[in-house]
Amino acid sequence: MKFFVDTADIAEIRDLASTGLVDGVTTNPSLVAKTGRSFLDVIREICEVVPGPVSAEVAATDHATMLAEGRKLAKLADNVAVKVPLTPDGLKTCKALSDEGTAVNVTLCFSAAQALLAAKAGATFISPFVGRLDDVGSDGMQLIAEIVEIYAAQPNLKTEVLVASVRGPGHVIEAARLGAEVATLPPGVLRQMFNHPLTDKGLAAFLADWGKTGQSILSEDDEREPARRSA
Ligand code: E4P
Repeated sequence: MKFFVDTADIAEIRDLASTGLVDGVTTNPSLVAKTGRSFLDVIREICEVVPGPVSAEVAATDHATMLAEGRKLAKLADNVAVKVPLTPDGLKTCKALSDEGTAVNVTLCFSAAQALLAAKAGATFISPFVGRLDDVGSDGMQLIAEIVEIYAAQPNLKTEVLVASVRGPGHVIEAARLGAEVATLPPGVLRQMFNHPLTDKGLAAFLADWGKTGQSILSEDDEREPARRSA
């Protein structure tokens, strides 16, 4: 399963990418607005840090302008995936861009019918928003199960399920169990996944016992990587 990070914050992306666990990045207009920076600069910079797909969303709603925006975004870097909304014009744009060889992420998916249409339109990724469905009393993970089942039953459809609007590690675990290819995680959720109180407790006990031995594995002659900030 691939892990993308769902942020436009370059410092967060650099930090998390240093773990070697980040396969791509998703952004959206709200995340870009939070940075206060130029959208095109942010996307260029992210694409240099993470070699995997970086989703950059169009801002227009009509096909002609979406297509022009998508073509411009695709030229920013080889790893840009153009993000389009799940509307008739968005899917028309998806089809045109994917026919040109551009990766497309179809966003704001809330039903299996929409996911089927996006796959027919040649989407590289479909982004069902699980958290926003949960927020209105629906079952986001049930939608993931339906889409995974439909795509598996139609092997001619090549679209990957990118679980979006993730609210916690539970969503990620369930997405993995269901066979979704990708989950995009807010940085805080990826950090939460590292944590378990028994890991902290066990490590503290091991270190205390190790201290009693008075030993050191490395000597001054041994090579060390320069220290980096960790996740
Ligand atoms: C996905 O690409 C979106 O950027 C994102 O997951 C939206 O999540 P939210 O519902 O937390 O805004």
